[in-house]
Amino acid sequence: MTQDELKTLVGQAALNYVTPGSIVGVGTGSTVDKFIDALAASGMTIAGAVSSSVRSTERMKALGIRVLEASEVTSLPVYIDGADEIDHQGHMVKGGGAALTREKIVADLAERFVCIADESKLVEVLGRFPLPVEVIPMAAAQIARRFAAMGGDAQLRAGCITDNGCHILDVRGLQIRDPQAFERDVNQWPGVVTVGVFARNKAAVCLLGTASGVRTLTY
Ligand code: 5RP
Repeated sequence: MTQDELKTLVGQAALNYVTPGSIVGVGTGSTVDKFIDALAASGMTIAGAVSSSVRSTERMKALGIRVLEASEVTSLPVYIDGADEIDHQGHMVKGGGAALTREKIVADLAERFVCIADESKLVEVLGRFPLPVEVIPMAAAQIARRFAAMGGDAQLRAGCITDNGCHILDVRGLQIRDPQAFERDVNQWPGVVTVGVFARNKAAVCLLGTASGVRTLTY
């Protein structure tokens, strides 16, 4: 199976975690696009979706799915999103699509994070994928120096302005062995909007697309 077919498989499988009539949290990315398409094609009626990006909002609206503001809900039963990396404890690296801040906001509203990913995303230790960090532009150089001091090489993502009007640093060369401490510490640096480690808002379930079908990991 191609990577695209694996994404289609898990996008479809995620429908099992959606309760008809509920409001669903929806992430961002090519795997989530498959979920949105499957949801629209399923004919299931939901009360609406809270979106994590302009990209997902536009896709859902085009398919007739009602999109609500995050401020209109107090909680969500489930948040469905992809990941750039996921470890065996459900910690993730996210933000390859530059939507990490809104993703974390919507994930924080949800009772359960269901991660959908192809099997290439499963890692032993987070850090193989360059870590996205959304930053206030004037702080980017100082934040890059802080990463350099811990062995990371932070580069500004060229031409990228987030939905929040900020920049993204992609940090290579890190091995994130304690995701909770790392997320807590980096989030305190002045000018960091959001670090792309999702440890506090980790996955409860991961639907992993493999050649032999969907593997369900629960944490
Ligand atoms: C966007 C994300 C995505 O979930 C992540 O990049 C995975 O994307 P894809 O499903 O296209 O592989 O965090 O900010």
